[in-house]
Amino acid sequence: MALKEREQKYRSVEDLPGVGPATAERLRDLGFTTVESIATATISELMAAGLSEKKAYELIALARESIELTWVTAKDLAELRTGLGRITTGSKALDALMGGGVETQSITEFYGEFGSGKSQICHQLAVNVQLPVSRGGLEGSALYIDTENTFRTERIIAMAKHLGLPPELVAERIIYAEAYTSDHQMLLLEKADKVIKENNVRLIIVDSLTAHFRSEYLGRQLLPERQQKLNKHLHRLIRLARAFNAAAVVTNQVMAKPDDFFNQSAVFPVGGHIVGHTSHTRILVRKVAGKRNRIARLVSSPYLPEGEAVFAITEDGIVDVEGED
Ligand code: GTP
Ligand code: MG
Repeated sequence: MALKEREQKYRSVEDLPGVGPATAERLRDLGFTTVESIATATISELMAAGLSEKKAYELIALARESIELTWVTAKDLAELRTGLGRITTGSKALDALMGGGVETQSITEFYGEFGSGKSQICHQLAVNVQLPVSRGGLEGSALYIDTENTFRTERIIAMAKHLGLPPELVAERIIYAEAYTSDHQMLLLEKADKVIKENNVRLIIVDSLTAHFRSEYLGRQLLPERQQKLNKHLHRLIRLARAFNAAAVVTNQVMAKPDDFFNQSAVFPVGGHIVGHTSHTRILVRKVAGKRNRIARLVSSPYLPEGEAVFAITEDGIVDVEGED
């Protein structure tokens, strides 16, 4: 039963039966720093740390038993659900559209055209995740993978001040990395579990998920390879989100569909179907001409109906449009 008990059974690699300090050290050297990383390792990878084949097999099985949630009973599922956390976006209207904010243990994708506000939403969430639960946060920190060098600490400071949070402390709890290529971006997530665990990261942001993939894999022949890599990257992301009860937020540019030229919302996200199937909640963000207002459309969700919400981007961050919530 109790998923929580199972999750807490082995907290660190040393807690796994038969792993002494020396073995733990060798595993750590090879990058296996958490129970989650052991659970997803291969036998040969662990044998490289000097374990016998049998021992490696046993260790992986124990780690998997401790965290893996492939088959669960309906009762376990209900328990898992109650463990879900939510992060406020700063706009009550936008939160309501998503059933109360951005959810942990799944991926939320914000997609839209240039300047629609995707990165501003990411900045705001990186601040808001730090709020106490009573104010819509998770008292955790944020991991921010920036692929377009658009992250700005000044925006974080302004948003933190508006919420009455100590700006330096808030900035310290956003752990940032710029990804220079798609491979680098993938590697950052491959190596993220230690930093996530040590810093109580409850929000993982990849802004933008697709920009590098789009620019590096040009042409039809490369499309299958690009999709396969994106798929792998997203699966890694969802695994981290589930293992650490963190929210995963990604952004994605859109391209206008040439045959739907007059339909403003007829845009489709880069990455096509694979991104579509793996992301659990997808939100299209649109600009409203000449205003700071934005329209968010919930395009797909595992259990919420489609709908729209209006919010605004101001100096203070993401807020409700006055008189409209
Ligand atoms: P791409 O990454 O280019 O696809 O765009 P994006 O969707 O990430 O857009 P982003 O989040 O960067 O939004 C930029 C918009 O946010 C600007 O055009 C402004 O309208 C708004 N914005 C950003 N910073 C501020 C600010 O300090 N004050 C106000 N009022 N608006 C801001
Ligand atoms: Mg952006």
